[in-house]
Amino acid sequence: MTAGQQPASQRQRTDPYVGQYAERAVGMVASEIRALFAVAARPEIISLAGGSPYVSALPLDAVGEMIGQLIASQGDRALQYCTAQGDAGLRERICDVMALEDVRAHPDEIVVTVGSQQALDLLARIFVDPGDVVLVEAPSYVGALGAFAAYQADVVHVPMDDDGLIPEALEEALRRTTARGRQAKFLYTVPNFHNPAGVTLAAARRQPILDICRRAGLLVVEDNPYGLLGFDGDPMRALRADDDEGVVYLGTFSKTFAAGVRVGWAVAPPAIKEKLILAAESAVLCHSSFSQLTVREYLTTQPWLEQIKNFRELYRERRDATLTALSRMMPPGCHWTRPGGGFYVWLGLPDGVDAKAMLPRAISSRVAYVPGTGFYADGSGGRYARLCYSLPDPERISEGIRRLASVIETEIQLRDDFGPPTGIR
Ligand SMILES: Cc1ncc(COP(=O)(O)O)c(C=O)c1O
Repeated sequence: MTAGQQPASQRQRTDPYVGQYAERAVGMVASEIRALFAVAARPEIISLAGGSPYVSALPLDAVGEMIGQLIASQGDRALQYCTAQGDAGLRERICDVMALEDVRAHPDEIVVTVGSQQALDLLARIFVDPGDVVLVEAPSYVGALGAFAAYQADVVHVPMDDDGLIPEALEEALRRTTARGRQAKFLYTVPNFHNPAGVTLAAARRQPILDICRRAGLLVVEDNPYGLLGFDGDPMRALRADDDEGVVYLGTFSKTFAAGVRVGWAVAPPAIKEKLILAAESAVLCHSSFSQLTVREYLTTQPWLEQIKNFRELYRERRDATLTALSRMMPPGCHWTRPGGGFYVWLGLPDGVDAKAMLPRAISSRVAYVPGTGFYADGSGGRYARLCYSLPDPERISEGIRRLASVIETEIQLRDDFGPPTGIR
């Protein structure tokens, strides 16, 4: 009897197929976030980890009624296969959404995806051979790092500051890549309300970055889940608005409507778009018609712009609670970013305090965050923690930060008594 045929109770805990996986699967390991979700979901723990939108703020009754009507009136389409490029009506509505960020796209340039996460996977699938260089910000979105690792990319981080990606640092990274005899496949960037750093690429840096990429023949992947969730003024102009040949734009309804519908999209130059459709076809045949028509109906029949304003107000209040609590309670040596939108604050810890080593002690103190190490391909980032304020209400945020501050104070005490831990990067 092989291991695969044994009843579950007798199976070994070690993996009998360990030597048989493709090389690309060897690099697939659970992310910091995944390992945390189970523990952080316990009600006694205030989770500043996650990254989930506050979907309870949606008009759930109205959405439920809308979905009922959708099935009653268009069930034959909503419950049927569709094309891999996605529903044409939804793609038209996506053009309206992107117009808010000055992107003038034609529905034919759009490919609907299963959240923007699938777009990241498809892009890696069509561009990345093992060892290919992909440039990303330092730090970068954990899900993108996972997608690129799955195709064995050589991920190179490019420094940011409070104004986002630093153009000179991008030039330097390109110079070094060329000096190694390599050519980067693309730059992956989250210009607005960055996950995890909470910073936004300054308007004055946008054109210089596009110019650098154009000169280098480097494709830009602009991932923009949070662009409409800014707390002040109008949305920023998208990079794609100024370069429709050199930029692939990724959008999603996860943060502006509902993460559970799993609807995102990519806008790409024609040849890349065709490859994305072929890659999507081989991955899933087509995406959920039901989800796509749900989003299309939502955008057609519900006050979606008003709802985005409601979300903005809600998240602004939570951002304010976070920043107030941080400035009142964090011990000296901590520093943090001040997001103008989105979900995240990037917290720098005092010298010698290790976010990963501290996490179990934070969880014992009933507060959770994501250690910075999850956002670097090389496992550095140990001096940082990502705090997400989208889910807890302001009181819980304050209490969570009070608990976290007290854990950090204990770590400082330990450091002073016994010396800093070794190996923090
Ligand atoms: C920067 C960024 N990109 C992509 C995603 C994936 O979102 P989804 O697949 O739900 O569209 C997220 C989710 O948190 C994100 O923060």
